[in-house]
Amino acid sequence: MDLQGGLHCLEYYELAGFYDLLTQTYTDYQEQVDFVQQALSYYQWRPGRVLDLACGTGAHSLLLTKAGYQVVGVDLSGQMLRRARQKAAALGLAIPLHQADLRELPYDRSFSAALCLNFSLTYMLTNEDLRRALRSTWKALQPGGLFLFDLAYQFSPEPWQEMAWEEGRNIRVSSVESIDWASQVILRRSSYWVGEGEGMHEYQGLDRRRLTLSQDMLYHLEAEGFQVRGQHRRWVLKQEPDNFSALIVAQKPNS
Ligand SMILES: C[S@@+](CC[C@H](N)C(=O)[O-])C[C@H]1O[C@@H](n2cnc3c(N)ncnc32)[C@H](O)[C@@H]1O
Repeated sequence: MDLQGGLHCLEYYELAGFYDLLTQTYTDYQEQVDFVQQALSYYQWRPGRVLDLACGTGAHSLLLTKAGYQVVGVDLSGQMLRRARQKAAALGLAIPLHQADLRELPYDRSFSAALCLNFSLTYMLTNEDLRRALRSTWKALQPGGLFLFDLAYQFSPEPWQEMAWEEGRNIRVSSVESIDWASQVILRRSSYWVGEGEGMHEYQGLDRRRLTLSQDMLYHLEAEGFQVRGQHRRWVLKQEPDNFSALIVAQKPNS
């Protein structure tokens, strides 16, 4: 299935099996889930089902389910969902995981919280797509439901490399980004070298994200009927956002 107009982030598509290997080098999912739990409690969440939007390979869904939450995960990529299902099965967890587009979620007042973490909302490249995603999230939430998501205020003009390995598998990624300021779209070109067993493969990937700043995002949230409850430094409830990113908490009003 196409991710946004035919351009694919290979990690969500052909290389979904390597996504966890790569992200575990820089993402502490337990820290993120601890934050989510603290934030839900701080904003007086009414217990109910939690929707993990753009759940990827299910890291948040799995940890929250283990902690006793009822979670449903959705993602556009069948490959990412396949990995999520394998991981859930290996842990003996039954988690509903559905293939769906953020812009067309098939839910109506079904959840008391929605998450969209690790900058996944930035895949909404235009105002129209962003508004559709906000509208369908709003519809999926019950009155009073909370929406937690993060935004990145950065792009990296300098090329960079990432690498990760485990027994029999390794991946090296070399990336460079450019931005088109008119559309606010960041284009990341990556070369992937992937080794599995004896084989070694090279892939070229393109990824597009939108650089959306807080003032604009708050405007769109409010225009779609959300109340903005707070902005935080990522994973630190008691601190303001820094200059690189923010974690925003919005709420569907009670009536
Ligand atoms: C950076 S990954 C984050 C995955 C997961 N939330 C995590 O933190 O590991 C972004 C995810 O967004 C998904 N995605 C991109 N566009 C989407 C869309 N329009 N609808 C649903 N999921 C989408 C990708 O398939 C990918 O799994």
